[in-house]
Amino acid sequence: MKIFLDSADVDEISQVYTWGVVDGITTNPSLLKIAVDKRKESIDLEIYIRTILKAAKGTPVSLEVTETQADKMFEQGKKLFKFFNHTAKNVCIKIPINTAIDNEGSQFEGLKAIKLLSKEKIPVNATLIFTPEQALMAAKAGAKYISPFAGRIDDFIRDQNKIKYNKTDYFPAEGLNNVEIKDDNGIVSGIDLVKKCVDILKIHKLNSEIIAASLRNTRQVREAALAGAHIATVPYPVITELIKHKKTVDGMKKFIEDIVPEYANFK
Ligand code: E4P
Repeated sequence: MKIFLDSADVDEISQVYTWGVVDGITTNPSLLKIAVDKRKESIDLEIYIRTILKAAKGTPVSLEVTETQADKMFEQGKKLFKFFNHTAKNVCIKIPINTAIDNEGSQFEGLKAIKLLSKEKIPVNATLIFTPEQALMAAKAGAKYISPFAGRIDDFIRDQNKIKYNKTDYFPAEGLNNVEIKDDNGIVSGIDLVKKCVDILKIHKLNSEIIAASLRNTRQVREAALAGAHIATVPYPVITELIKHKKTVDGMKKFIEDIVPEYANFK
């Protein structure tokens, strides 16, 4: 499984690439706003984004469109790609699967934009995926990446059941028992959503890659890997936790204590 960093913070991005295990970056409008707001001095957004692209050279960086109509999303996606891709040849355009904000508007704008951009050979990351059916549609439209939002499904199930939680709390992959609303139309957890998206692509030999997104803790990353996700996109604080265990610290202390001086001095 590849690991992407879910962040638009250039310091975090530069840092994770020094570790040698990060394979790409996902951003969204909210992450970009956090990064920009953090830098109190006014930043030049164009230079800022190019710095991110250079830091991630050789690996994909998802930049999300802000338009909501298919033709405008297509135009904006093409423009973003043309404007930024020459910097490091790693831009991927992120398109919400369905941009309607109610059941009345056209539900197919995102899907149409995915198809149009993919036909132009512009790599697309289909985002805001909450059902395996949406993933299937995105794959059929040609999306290179498909991002089911695991954490937000867990939030949704907990909210429906009026369960209090913190954003980073673990939610069992097998779902909840002893609650009134056990699932979301057959989906029992965010990881269940990821697994079903992965399975559908496999069964139908579709070439898109599933990015397990909206991950909030290390167990979700583990479970995304076990569910067969091709990629997990992980926030910085969670990536740093992936490498830790108390017994590793204890073991390390003991190894340092026990070093035989002569051994350490071999040249
Ligand atoms: C990534 O592509 C998503 O935009 C991101 O993982 C959403 O995470 P959140 O649900 O924690 O905001």
